[in-house]
Amino acid sequence: MKPSIRIFDTTLRDGEQAPGCSMDLNEKLEVARHLERLKVDVIEAGFAIASPGDFESISAIAREIKDCTVASLARTTEKDIDAAYEAVRHAASPLIHTFISTSPVHMRYMMKMTPEQVLERTAAMVAYAAKKCPDVEFSAQDATRSDPEFLIQVFGTAIKNGATIINVPDTVGYTTPEEMSRLISTLRERVSGIDKTVISVHCHDDLGMAVANSLAAVTAGATQVECTVNGIGERAGNAALEEIVMALNTRKDYFKASSRVDTTQIYRTSKLVYSIIGVAAPPNKSIVGTGAFSHESGIHQHGVLSEPTTYEIMTPESIGLSENKLVLGKHSGRHAFADRIKTLGFSLSEEEINERFIEFKKLCDNMKSVSDDDIVALITNKIAANDSHYKLNRFEVFTSNEARGTCVMSLVYNDEIIEDVALGHGPIDAAYNAIDKLVVAPHRTLEDYSIHSVSEGKDALGEVVVKIKSGETTYTGRGLSTNIIESSVLAYINGINKILKRGDMGAKARDI
Ligand code: KIV
Ligand code: ZN
Repeated sequence: MKPSIRIFDTTLRDGEQAPGCSMDLNEKLEVARHLERLKVDVIEAGFAIASPGDFESISAIAREIKDCTVASLARTTEKDIDAAYEAVRHAASPLIHTFISTSPVHMRYMMKMTPEQVLERTAAMVAYAAKKCPDVEFSAQDATRSDPEFLIQVFGTAIKNGATIINVPDTVGYTTPEEMSRLISTLRERVSGIDKTVISVHCHDDLGMAVANSLAAVTAGATQVECTVNGIGERAGNAALEEIVMALNTRKDYFKASSRVDTTQIYRTSKLVYSIIGVAAPPNKSIVGTGAFSHESGIHQHGVLSEPTTYEIMTPESIGLSENKLVLGKHSGRHAFADRIKTLGFSLSEEEINERFIEFKKLCDNMKSVSDDDIVALITNKIAANDSHYKLNRFEVFTSNEARGTCVMSLVYNDEIIEDVALGHGPIDAAYNAIDKLVVAPHRTLEDYSIHSVSEGKDALGEVVVKIKSGETTYTGRGLSTNIIESSVLAYINGINKILKRGDMGAKARDI
């Protein structure tokens, strides 16, 4: 068996950078806790210089996470590297990840630098980072469209100046498995000092080959793979963590390599990330889609019933998808509830458990039984809840199939009750118009509204997810209730509070 493959998770940096995937501090912290439980090797927690909010989230993650390296991205400038180090310096294992473009097109049109200048900057800034932090990763952005001879020089320079990890990004998802394998072999043969360095790959999925390219790199000798949970990321996304890890695990015979990831935490982590970004898993998504382990055709069902391995190459249990989901109800006590929360992968304080237990009991008054999915929704919804600005006090809606909807909305703002009334095409439009009349928040556009039932039955919890665009960022608002108009109202208020919170923290600087 080859040495273990390091899993470098960039959900909170490259993943969060994608439109509609932005997360706030509490959400990022919860994802980081799940990643630690999943046992990834590195958590890239953000891009410290991008905004005060990013900086604060990276520092909070660095202070709390003990069992993973915590990294911050930085361009090759002193200001970026200083911010990155400041953000990660309290981590048990800090890492500065610095990058510069090396392809002709990037150097000419983006960087406006000559190859010689890129080499000089690499040497100076890697050395600068290495003086601050024992572990420095250097990435050659757009490596797969760079001249391999130039890459050999750049990586050699980075290693000479203290890089402990060199990363080969397929930034625009352009390469093929064979090309990637050849590139890694060439670098291994020709870059001086590479034998003492971790060789990393970072693949995007524009042509649907991110996972294949990453695995081809592993077969050629790469020892770190950068990936994101559910493959979220810029444009078509990044290589999906769950696919990389389960491929290594299922095909040990072929890859002769393994990761230290606890695969039984995959399903939970995937669900948390989908629920935070307010997107449902595509049913046919590899590993974590709802259909990934269900067998529809009679022939397949017959086969699986006689012997699961006829059509199943992995077990649902191996990713933590348990068949025996426990159902709780109004007779369940606090102990059973607390136990379930722990089994579902959350570690809440006693006080948080007590608060969630009160909500659980209220839920039991409206629902016959409460499933695992309801409990996860209850907890993740609370993580997303952000009552720092506006809170719902009460509302009344009047709706009919013949007249316009009317809503009287009452919110709490700075301990004061504010009220207004509005008309709309239906009850939700009326409620949103009333909220718009009440809140003072930056210009925004409701881009998307979706509703789904968390579990089954007429009494199910309805979860509403709204996507609200303000400036360059799309914010996700979520609301949960057995009353779907209330879920809609809560989701809209949640989204608006996130816009205001991000405004307080300073918006992400998109031009860097
Ligand atoms: O895709 C890319 O090139 C990146 C680098 C910053 C590593 O995300
Ligand atoms: Zn990337």
